[in-house]
Amino acid sequence: MKIIGKTIQIMLLMAVVVFTSCNTENKKANLDYTSTELSAEERVKDLMSRMTLEEKVAQMCQYVGLEHIKAAQHDLSEEDLDVNDARGFYPDLSINDLVEMTKAGKIGSYLHIVTVEEANYLQSLAMQSKFKIPLLIGIDAIHGDGLFSGATIYPSPITQAATWDDELLYKVSAQTAKEMRATGTHWAFTPNIDVLRDPRWGRTGETFGEDPYLVGNMGVATIKGLQSDNFSGSENVIACAKHLVAGSQSLNGLNASPTDVSYRTLMGIFLPPFKRAVQEANLFSIMTAHNEVNGIPAHMDKHMMTDLMRDRWGFDGFYVSDWNDVSRIHTWHHVADSFKQATEFSVGAGLDMHMHGPHFAEYVIELVNEGKLPESRVDLACSKILEVKFRLGLFENPFIEEGSYKEVLFNKEHQESSLEQARKGIVLQKNSGILPLKSSTKKTIFVTGPNANNQTTLGDWVSPQPEENIITMYEGIKKLGEEKGYKVSYFDSGDRSRKMKDADINKAAALAKKADITVLVLGENSFRHDWPNKTTGENIDRATLKLSGRQMELANKVLANGKPVIVVYVSGSPIAEPTLEKRAKAVINTWEPGAFGGQATAEIIFGEVNPSAKLPLTIPRSVGQLQMVYNHKPTMYIHKYNTEKKTPLHPFGFGLSYTQFDISTPVVSSNVVSKDAPIEVSVEVKNTGKMAGEEVVQLYIRDNVSSVTRPVKELKKYQRVALEPGESKTVTMTLDAESLAFYDINMEYCVEPGSFKVMVGNSSADKDLKETSIEVKERIILKD
Ligand code: BGC
Repeated sequence: MKIIGKTIQIMLLMAVVVFTSCNTENKKANLDYTSTELSAEERVKDLMSRMTLEEKVAQMCQYVGLEHIKAAQHDLSEEDLDVNDARGFYPDLSINDLVEMTKAGKIGSYLHIVTVEEANYLQSLAMQSKFKIPLLIGIDAIHGDGLFSGATIYPSPITQAATWDDELLYKVSAQTAKEMRATGTHWAFTPNIDVLRDPRWGRTGETFGEDPYLVGNMGVATIKGLQSDNFSGSENVIACAKHLVAGSQSLNGLNASPTDVSYRTLMGIFLPPFKRAVQEANLFSIMTAHNEVNGIPAHMDKHMMTDLMRDRWGFDGFYVSDWNDVSRIHTWHHVADSFKQATEFSVGAGLDMHMHGPHFAEYVIELVNEGKLPESRVDLACSKILEVKFRLGLFENPFIEEGSYKEVLFNKEHQESSLEQARKGIVLQKNSGILPLKSSTKKTIFVTGPNANNQTTLGDWVSPQPEENIITMYEGIKKLGEEKGYKVSYFDSGDRSRKMKDADINKAAALAKKADITVLVLGENSFRHDWPNKTTGENIDRATLKLSGRQMELANKVLANGKPVIVVYVSGSPIAEPTLEKRAKAVINTWEPGAFGGQATAEIIFGEVNPSAKLPLTIPRSVGQLQMVYNHKPTMYIHKYNTEKKTPLHPFGFGLSYTQFDISTPVVSSNVVSKDAPIEVSVEVKNTGKMAGEEVVQLYIRDNVSSVTRPVKELKKYQRVALEPGESKTVTMTLDAESLAFYDINMEYCVEPGSFKVMVGNSSADKDLKETSIEVKERIILKD
């Protein structure tokens, strides 16, 4: 009886399940893409089933914003357009044409919208289109939503990398996403995970430096912070890793010039951060590079975009071109005979969205109709772009409540993170004992130099910010200096390094003579809005690593007084001035430390903060030493130069503290690494000095014998550790097979048997490292 009862119960249950699921299916069948009860994928499917080819192609088209166009039209000639990568307009289209196109659903995306009013206006136009598909609005929010006036400006990526603190970067990226959404933008053209191999490249400040592992970690942290897990909801944006690939080792250090590197170097140095961004952070968009790679313009590199990234490594998002770079396959690279053919090559290779402007759509439509492009390419592109719009919730609410952004932008929490990043990202490169300055009621400090009292601390991709949001170097030093009892004065020696006047240089030197200490704030200028005076940044590459303009004249005159000089660098690109570093009492490299750079620098000068940053790239002595990277091949320095040393000015991973740390010889949990048995590497770190501080413990490996040559050192792990004076802590880092893997002589991703050196210390310099060794007994093949 009981058994029969149970059977009936089960049958009833099954009937309910079948009924409910049929019911759900029926119900779902009646729903369309406007319903939030369907998944993003289901909504995309439904919407696309209603769209024509023309409507789908429209989603692949991006244009610059209307206000941007008005300003650019006013300032630029048509001839300027071809080479201008920052500003654009469309000679054949009026603002009214764009308004009508948006209403007709012919535009899928805009970029460079910097007011909420414009974002809302454009969305209101899109809401008049047939399917009411919202616009995806992209912006270069590289270190904060910096093109928006009033946003929190965090330190530049190179400074962020100098923190070696991925968690903090994750946090500021999540804050950036909130600020972006509050201002109506949804897509950040960041992180720049170009592995920097030539610091003449003006975009050095936008990168995370020269090491693939550090760049990979920083890239993953940025993407996760911006996107969260699946970028759904109203506080996330999608990230865009760029630029695929290797423009950071273009010939002669010039932006967009050709890159010629071996496939092995691409796989071993440039591509690992992209692979990790896809596999560890669910990256949803990638921007291709201006440059060609080994003869193939990046925008038509099918192997890179489709075979490798999408099919082999699993990239499941969409590609966007860089600024006008599809047409440049024709006009710059001379590989296509027309923009139309360039479109065929690029979309055929895997490109999904065109930045920016007309003609692309009509060519894609023609090419599909002529059978030169499969419609499946358009379908994939359109489906990914729509998926993003659904997931971000834009169909439900494309608008921003005007004024609401004020609570989010530059709020207390965001300010604190920006300050924390600056404190952790400023590198102390030299200290002959003068720092930290002790309190004094008698002494005077004189501050001067081109970057002493302006917003160069903010770096590239930033519009001028409200003065009250920014603490300049002088302001920071004056405030804290006076609290410590000093008299602090300032003289404007001229803020454009190439235009400094004799009279100002002489006056600055004379004032320095009267002061007890001079803080000389030197460096470069990467302001977007000051293009003629920029000395580094996008499209301003450097033929020297020396200070630009007349800065060394100023420095030499000030130093000639014989009084102590503290040099503070503000520059996204490294400065190689060995004699200046020798003569200065201290050198503080702040990179581009963001809104609170002046405060953080002052706190370091007066010892409120103990510096802990480490260089994310090698600083050479001269441009002639390039390429100079710590992870070079074994034969790099067998021979000498006739007139130059072969050591850098400062090695990768280097940075001083006001205290001393003792790091023990590493101890391993086992000296054999096998496929599924990672090992732990431990060191004891002791603060042997008198001040609390943080140290970045770095772990490098070297494969002693390999089937192809390998770097003399490779960074594999690092950890920040905070220690009180006298305190010790054990730092443990894990090494697994992946940490030892590389592409062998047959390009197989594996670990070869043999011994490896494991080196741990606080910089990449041999003298700062202690070592042990480990072994791999059998060849390990890894999934790739
Ligand atoms: C840069 C990109 C940037 C784009 C949009 C281009 O010139 O290379 O990195 O995202 O402009 O501003």
